[in-house]
Amino acid sequence: METSLIVLALAWLGAVIAFISNKIRKPKKKSPPGPKPWPILGNLHQLGSLPHISLHLLAEKYGDIMQLKYGSRTVVVATSAKMAEEFLKTHDGVLASRPPLASGKYTDYNFKGMIWAPYGPHWKKARKVYLTELFTLKRLDSFEYIRAEERLRFLSGLYAQCENPVVLKNHIKRYTLSSISRVILRDKYFSDHKTNTSLVSISEFHEMIDEWMVLNGVLNIGDWIPWLRMFDLQGYVKRMKVLRKKFDAFHDYAIADHMAQKDLAGKNFVPKDMADVLLQLSEDDTDPDVKLNMESVKALVHDLMLGGTDTSGTTTEWAIHEILRHPHVLAKLREELDKVTGGERWVEENDFPQMPYLEAIIKETSRLHPLSPLLAPHFALEDCNVAGYDIAKGTTILINTWSIGRNPIYWDNPDEFMPERFLQGKEISMSGKDFTLLPFGAGRRKCPGYILGLRIVRTTIANIFHGFNWKLPKGMKHEDICMVERYGLTTCPEVPLTIIPEARLPIHLYK
Ligand code: HEM
Repeated sequence: METSLIVLALAWLGAVIAFISNKIRKPKKKSPPGPKPWPILGNLHQLGSLPHISLHLLAEKYGDIMQLKYGSRTVVVATSAKMAEEFLKTHDGVLASRPPLASGKYTDYNFKGMIWAPYGPHWKKARKVYLTELFTLKRLDSFEYIRAEERLRFLSGLYAQCENPVVLKNHIKRYTLSSISRVILRDKYFSDHKTNTSLVSISEFHEMIDEWMVLNGVLNIGDWIPWLRMFDLQGYVKRMKVLRKKFDAFHDYAIADHMAQKDLAGKNFVPKDMADVLLQLSEDDTDPDVKLNMESVKALVHDLMLGGTDTSGTTTEWAIHEILRHPHVLAKLREELDKVTGGERWVEENDFPQMPYLEAIIKETSRLHPLSPLLAPHFALEDCNVAGYDIAKGTTILINTWSIGRNPIYWDNPDEFMPERFLQGKEISMSGKDFTLLPFGAGRRKCPGYILGLRIVRTTIANIFHGFNWKLPKGMKHEDICMVERYGLTTCPEVPLTIIPEARLPIHLYK
């Protein structure tokens, strides 16, 4: 009895000594500053319907690197170009993953797509395929005729509506979806109405894309407070599952059709679109570790459609809103357009090098209205130390590009729309080299489709203003155009613009 008491006492003493020496030996972790979290909720109650603005306001108090709790999960937010560079360049290797959120599981083929894939062999392979097979300049050039055909269809459609009010967003969405889906899937697999050869109508497909963007941007409570996951309190997971089914049926149909055409062509098969290229690669793939199988082909096609459609359309929409609010910008743009084309033809992709003002408008739009104001979330795969602060493995990283774009340290009169700022002084690139302007992100997770996206955005904005004068509805003034944002994985104008087109080029060009 006595011996066992002594053993117990010694064990207890040992534990106390171990605890104390551990405390002494282990240097205390230095976390970034941030607001004190509440039990259970963390800081979730401090986020409004536009989280990038709530985080911007909090950063004014806590600084350009700030730590919060979303429920029980740690989130670190970067709010300066310097911190963005730390996260996306200096420590990119350990921070290039994505948090395992429900949206990646249910709406991106269980993380098999590229957007939500964790950083690892599957993502690396997908990225290589994207960059070396799908987005080479040669491949993009070879699809230019598709973009030109769809653009003319879009402009002719607007011409048919001349002198009538049109919801411009709907036309732009239809055009970007048609161009992207022809590049990826050749056929559009949807039409104005559901038919025997189309699985969904174009408006249903738009609704699916909109729903995907919303569900991929929401704060799903179950992601951040795991013990509440099973209740799906906001009903988001239920909606994700419904959406997954719809997309899956669409992709199954399109891929089966591609396979059938490939089989029919036999040895003479030549890939005609991006899905063909992916199917061919998957057939030739002998890599035993990460083989491209049917599921991954579907997931990659899915990401191409989603990554490519809404992004280009929404960037174009924001630019149009800003140009129409600023008549002097429109006048300068028109001058450039007329000088380059002589007013006798449409603007083509190879006109861009002669259009610095258009490029400046796109940069200025991206500065004030970055499509993903917090980029897509990054995720720490290892512990690391950033700018003297300890970032624990499993931390979610957000880069507040909205806030960086409005920081007076980098931008004079940051709330003003002034494309001219990009024509003075040192050139600022959008390709991820300048951390003050990151519309496509930077580093390993940088948007792989940005060259294609920019080509579509440039020609669309240019031709919308080259081909038409735009009258606002009666009683509406330029300054009334609504610039309120609606948050999602991509952030778009809350109120779409209704506006009246009036042709300004020779009539034969619209036919
Ligand atoms: C103006 C048009 C576009 C904009 C503004 C844009 C913006 C972005 C942004 C901000 C990201 C996240 C970067 C990060 O996580 O740090 C991204 C990722 C991505 N984008 Fe784009 N994008 C555009 C066009 C496109 C196009 C045309 C495609 C494909 C057809 C595409 C496919 C993707 C994919 C697959 C990812 C995920 C990359 C990864 O996680 O590794 N994007 N894009």
